[in-house]
Amino acid sequence: MKKDLIDILDLTTQQIDELIDTAQDIIAHPDAYAERCRRKKIATLFYEPSTRTRLSFEAAMLDLGGEVLGFSEASSSSASKGESVADTARVVACFADIIAMRHPKEGAPLVAARNIDIPVINAGDGGHFHPTQTLADLLTIKREKGRLTGLTVGLCGDLKYGRTVHSLAAAMARYEGTHFVLISPKELAMPEQIVSEVLQKEGVSFEVTASLEEAMPKLDILYMTRVQKERFDSEEEYRRLKDSYILTPEKLQTAQSGLAVLHPLPRVNEIAVAVDADPRACYFKQVQNGKFIRMALILKLLQNAPSATKRPEGDLYPGVRCENPRCICAAEQELPARFYRGREGILRCDWCGTRAVRGGRA
Ligand code: CP
Repeated sequence: MKKDLIDILDLTTQQIDELIDTAQDIIAHPDAYAERCRRKKIATLFYEPSTRTRLSFEAAMLDLGGEVLGFSEASSSSASKGESVADTARVVACFADIIAMRHPKEGAPLVAARNIDIPVINAGDGGHFHPTQTLADLLTIKREKGRLTGLTVGLCGDLKYGRTVHSLAAAMARYEGTHFVLISPKELAMPEQIVSEVLQKEGVSFEVTASLEEAMPKLDILYMTRVQKERFDSEEEYRRLKDSYILTPEKLQTAQSGLAVLHPLPRVNEIAVAVDADPRACYFKQVQNGKFIRMALILKLLQNAPSATKRPEGDLYPGVRCENPRCICAAEQELPARFYRGREGILRCDWCGTRAVRGGRA
């Protein structure tokens, strides 16, 4: 098993299934786990706002008998004085046994993971990935539908910047019989990286539509997302797109009786409050499941640490560069520019996965 959880693909399907089994055992027998992390500490390093993820990591460690330290905003850490992610990670590794990090720059948790020996969990890096939200989503789907195979999954809303849908697509693509319906305006379509390196690579079936109404009757799972205001360069563009989809009780009338409606939360207005009373609304159960699956993950990564492997590093390619302004390599220019070959030999940035470009500054 890998030392860190940066991308949901760091876990095999078997490892995900084992985590789900452990989480279900924790739900059934919480007392059996109450001392399992005694004298262990988790550091929650949150450079970006969070309610669910940070508090559920902290609640998870406390419920395992461990302790918690950390910061909830970059301005209260020495990042505000210019300290790099790597240096912060090296310092925190002197105090803690495991780190959960959220950062607005894509690839920042990977920078931390590469520089220390304790496990690092990506708690959301920019618009890139959010693997522990995906674990919470998978546990919810398993508990609601009884299986993870043979499901038609609608991903709706901001598929461009919504990191949760990138990780969920990667995870569900590996379960047999998954069919995705990608529901978004074209401006918020699924990024090329996910379509090429996940959906096409796995050979998973998918269709693209802008119509939630058209998709609704087909769906076993409807995964709604918020339009990610904080990732837009233009306020005007955000205002134009923010109300693209609003789920109401009327729109659910054509849905299957066994549909499960998920949302990583927070919501703004994309699910009307009136939907909360519908038995198909699962998003608050999803929050609760998030704590149990994070308990399972913390346990597994701590048990695993002595024999764990690090993710392989990309290679140096002279004259090649990453042009993603949201990549950690744009913010911390001393980071080595490394790249890996993805599907069809395309070079991609090791930190953020964006297609590399040749020539210019590099
Ligand atoms: N789902 C999620 O990541 O919520 P927070 O931003 O509140 O952590």
